[in-house]
Amino acid sequence: MSLSRPLTPFTLAGDDFIEPSSHDADGAEKIKASEAYRHLHQQVELGFYVDPGSADLIDIWARQNRDMGLEFRGFREAEPRPDFLPRWQRPVGTIGGLPSTLNVGSKILPAWLITAVGVAPTHRRRGILRRMITEELTRAQEQGYPLAALTVSEGGIYERFGFGVSTYQVTQTIDRRRGIQLRPEVLEALNTTVGQVYEVNPTELVDLADRLDRQSHEVTPGSIRRPRPIQENMLGAVNLWGGSSEAHRELKGYVYITEDGPEALAVISHKGWENVEVSTGVIRDLQFFTRRGFAGLMDTVLNLDLVDELKYREAPGRALATAMIDPRAVKSTSESDLVWTRLLDVVAALESRDYGQDGSLVLDVEDAMGLVDGLYRLDVSNGSARAERIDAPQHDGVDAVTLDVAHLATALFRGGGALAEVGLINGPATEQFLRMFAVVKEPFCNFGF
Ligand SMILES: CC(C)(COP(=O)(O)OP(=O)(O)OC[C@H]1O[C@@H](n2cnc3c(N)ncnc32)[C@H](O)[C@@H]1OP(=O)(O)O)[C@@H](O)C(=O)NCCC(=O)NCCS
Repeated sequence: MSLSRPLTPFTLAGDDFIEPSSHDADGAEKIKASEAYRHLHQQVELGFYVDPGSADLIDIWARQNRDMGLEFRGFREAEPRPDFLPRWQRPVGTIGGLPSTLNVGSKILPAWLITAVGVAPTHRRRGILRRMITEELTRAQEQGYPLAALTVSEGGIYERFGFGVSTYQVTQTIDRRRGIQLRPEVLEALNTTVGQVYEVNPTELVDLADRLDRQSHEVTPGSIRRPRPIQENMLGAVNLWGGSSEAHRELKGYVYITEDGPEALAVISHKGWENVEVSTGVIRDLQFFTRRGFAGLMDTVLNLDLVDELKYREAPGRALATAMIDPRAVKSTSESDLVWTRLLDVVAALESRDYGQDGSLVLDVEDAMGLVDGLYRLDVSNGSARAERIDAPQHDGVDAVTLDVAHLATALFRGGGALAEVGLINGPATEQFLRMFAVVKEPFCNFGF
């Protein structure tokens, strides 16, 4: 029955989120979410079984989402429901997008972040997601975004749309009962004593964190510039994810500062005292842009009192464990993909990365959606990359590899080794591709969206 119910598309963006009467006579804003926003918000949150929050809270979500530049699109049912059912204004399919930037390695590129993807169970498997995402990517490409990115709740859906994993995150658990310490030679090599750590209330530090984020984004491949409302939530200045418009009261913060200014910030929460066996602290947020800041800050945070174990997230590679006298004190408790990236402009993407060695390649990029498929030539000379789209393989001794656009996105950030091992990168230039796409620094993004 559901298959035949007609649908009508909608767009909701910017001031559509806010009641027009939200302005008083002087033009000052009294933010109140519009009815359309309210229904959309409820649908999106309930799609993930999350309480959409009180009316007051939805007003704040509306303001935050408008300030982030979020645009929602999707579908509503075109015809009214039977009279005996209460009126229903929630959409049946939603997709959201917002502008940001993504660090590809040597350059930061504009990126269209996709979020709030959902289709009502009554309308699944009839192509609504495919239509929404095709239109979203096409629009982003037309508007000049070289990249799109999203985070997923299921791993088997988005590769068909050309998204490949660009960053992973590992949750580490540090056993503080082992008398953990950073190696003195690490602290010395990084010269951490030029700075000091201050205890702070993180909820008051949104401006400082925003500055740190900008600096860390500049030096961290795979990172995405944090929209300010996400920063507010991560620091606990609002507690929208916890259902409150008030700031968190239970968070502690630590900042590492040198005479050049702040270099690192950690926000700490505690899992509570119900389990008296193990007291668990959580580094809820960690932002830094120098290794000195990271080590200087962790030297203090690792010594928090009354904490048996401390959890935090980092890129794969065990950076913190490597800095410790007893690396076994750090155990990886889970690993998951975080950001999936979609190339919308292969030339721009190829020219925004550092390469492991000079050389020339032809990439035969397959894209089932037809957005970027074709042949590309990449020349890296003295470390600087030039790419162009070509009509036919140029036979001046340049070999080719064939790969899907999703796998090119992954290789761009993380190298191609695992993909080539299982035959997902093919062709005579595969070895050359692997050497050129070798990665020195594991990419990382420190928030989800
Ligand atoms: C996932 C979801 C958005 C799919 O929407 P949909 O409109 O039913 O999807 P479509 O009918 O457009 O399917 C598009 C393709 O994805 C595939 N697909 C859909 N859901 C899938 C799933 N859960 N796992 C694997 N593949 C899936 C379809 O088979 C189809 O493949 P094909 O076009 O290559 O044949 C929807 O089921 C949903 O809202 N789920 C709950 C929330 C969620 O998981 N959101 C996405 C994660 S962020």
